[in-house]
Amino acid sequence: MPRDADRLFADLLHHRLGGLSPGDAIVPAIQPASVFLAPSAGSNAPYEYGRFHNPTWTETEAALALLEQAEIVTFPSGMAAVAATLITQTRGGDRILMPSDGYYASRLIAEKFVGRFGVTIIQRPTARFLDGGFDGFALVIAETPSNPGLDICDIAAVATAAKAAGAVVAVDNTTMTPLGQRPLDLGADMVIASDTKAINGHSDALFGHIATRDPAIAAAILEYRKYTGPIPSPFDAWLVHRGLETLEVRFSRMTANAAALAERLMAHSKVKGVRYPGLPGAPGHEIAKRQMHSFGFMLGVDVGSADAANRLIDECRFIQATTSFGGMRTSGERRAKWGDAVPEGYVRLSAGCEPLEPLWSAISETLSVIGD
Ligand SMILES: Cc1ncc(COP(=O)(O)O)c(C=O)c1O
Repeated sequence: MPRDADRLFADLLHHRLGGLSPGDAIVPAIQPASVFLAPSAGSNAPYEYGRFHNPTWTETEAALALLEQAEIVTFPSGMAAVAATLITQTRGGDRILMPSDGYYASRLIAEKFVGRFGVTIIQRPTARFLDGGFDGFALVIAETPSNPGLDICDIAAVATAAKAAGAVVAVDNTTMTPLGQRPLDLGADMVIASDTKAINGHSDALFGHIATRDPAIAAAILEYRKYTGPIPSPFDAWLVHRGLETLEVRFSRMTANAAALAERLMAHSKVKGVRYPGLPGAPGHEIAKRQMHSFGFMLGVDVGSADAANRLIDECRFIQATTSFGGMRTSGERRAKWGDAVPEGYVRLSAGCEPLEPLWSAISETLSVIGD
């Protein structure tokens, strides 16, 4: 992690303290409220109606703003943030470019809902995202490393070329968090994130955010949320604030575990292939070295067949069979079951915070009794 991210994280842990008075709680309050006092004389009160703003969102957005060094609008899920991007950044007749190998629901809502209004969605694989250029696109959404195949595209090159062609460039940074990769620093206009994953990190809340340094984009997103109503619950905002406070330590453990697992899995006789951007020779490794501050906590392992993949997930006592990722516990999912273009035996693993040796023992023991 670069020093500036270290510094930002240290600031994040202390930034509230300057605004506190003696006797104030060190941590933010959960403030459920639909209405706030709004006297007829008019006032500059910061809160009025619960769909417009909420003090607990303000706390979480301030913490995320510090980490992203950008304006933040939070949402009740990552998908709500994707939808906000699609709806506010396009109009009838526009063309959107999206990864063909990114999170499938993002493509699905673009086709199903935005496509109905005369927007054309074009898809390209992440590893060849630059091929064909960006002429005629209003919005370009990249996802790198892509979920679930962990392919990489060059964010700075995409941002430079797509912005020169007149597009707004958004990067879904869910798999990396601002500690691992900083798309806004690389020239993207927007970051989209599912904070359901590592940012909250405790598998107990759905949440999302958009980060941008462009005031016009921030205003459009905020206005969209204010009037269409995809608002986070104050309790979930509080959980995410709490989760953020441990992000850096969790992220360090998870990424160290992922790197160690990737190397050890490569050497295991039952393993047919491993995807991890940090492995020398992995597709996109050279780009990853340039643009990622860490190689992340996600990896893919091909154990040869659907049956072997299912057994690895179901029988390993330290792999939690869940569809999400970024939590405390190592989790795994056979993504071909969703129709993703990965081998039948490909298990997407999200390395958790377990101490490495018991985690590895459990995985290698399970591998040794499955498949050929
Ligand atoms: C890359 C990516 N973006 C967005 C989302 C959607 O996030 P949520 O489930 O919080 O709506 C996901 C969920 O898995 C994801 O993997």
